[in-house]
Amino acid sequence: MSRRMLIAGNWKMNGLRASLDFFDEVAPLATARRDVDILICPPATLITAASERSGSVALGAQDCHVQSAGAHTGDISANMLKDAGARYVILGHSERRADHHETSPQVREKAVTAVSAGLTPIICVGETRADREAGRAQAIVVEQVAQSVPGEGRIIIAYEPVWAIGTGLTASTADIADMHDCIRSQLAAGETTQILYGGSVKPSNAAEIFALEDVDGGLIGGASLKAADFSAIIEAAPVRTEETG
Ligand code: PGA
Repeated sequence: MSRRMLIAGNWKMNGLRASLDFFDEVAPLATARRDVDILICPPATLITAASERSGSVALGAQDCHVQSAGAHTGDISANMLKDAGARYVILGHSERRADHHETSPQVREKAVTAVSAGLTPIICVGETRADREAGRAQAIVVEQVAQSVPGEGRIIIAYEPVWAIGTGLTASTADIADMHDCIRSQLAAGETTQILYGGSVKPSNAAEIFALEDVDGGLIGGASLKAADFSAIIEAAPVRTEETG
């Protein structure tokens, strides 16, 4: 095993400056667990302020524009996010695919821009409940990966079944293992690419999910909003002995 574990929190459209007290509890844990990459993706408004509190917790954004600058009112570029203190950016989250009609080819273009700005994209893929019930979960995810992942640059994949996000439902460990294996075998740099699972990860199920060989951590929504829950999820990350980072 040569991949580091990454525990990433996605605060979505939640968080005010007072929320940054979160780091008082989580930053010391990140210092103690140097073997694990720990990341918080707050709303963009908090990235700069968070960078003064986050210590060894890395920061990321939740989206970026496909262009690096220009006349795009209300949008934020990858360069700006990097300048604000982000190292990662979540791209193609199912909520953006649904709310903003983002397509996989657009996600791929954003990923190219993010990589050239020096950010590591976390590219989200995942099937709907209807896809899974129709037996086409893997076909859908394979297509999303093929269309969303750029040809070059370090990226991370987050497999997030849409029906598991924010619902309290999680995929079975067998289904997670199968999907991660399928994604890994599709990627040119599969052996070294971190593949996260997301969808109702919480303190009570994190250890079981993170123990799977092809799961390199989690993308955590609701349970990343409370320092105690997120800390418990970090603690559930197994120690991986051989690491290349
Ligand atoms: P959840 O969200 O943990 O609240 O299900 C995960 C995500 O949307 O990344």
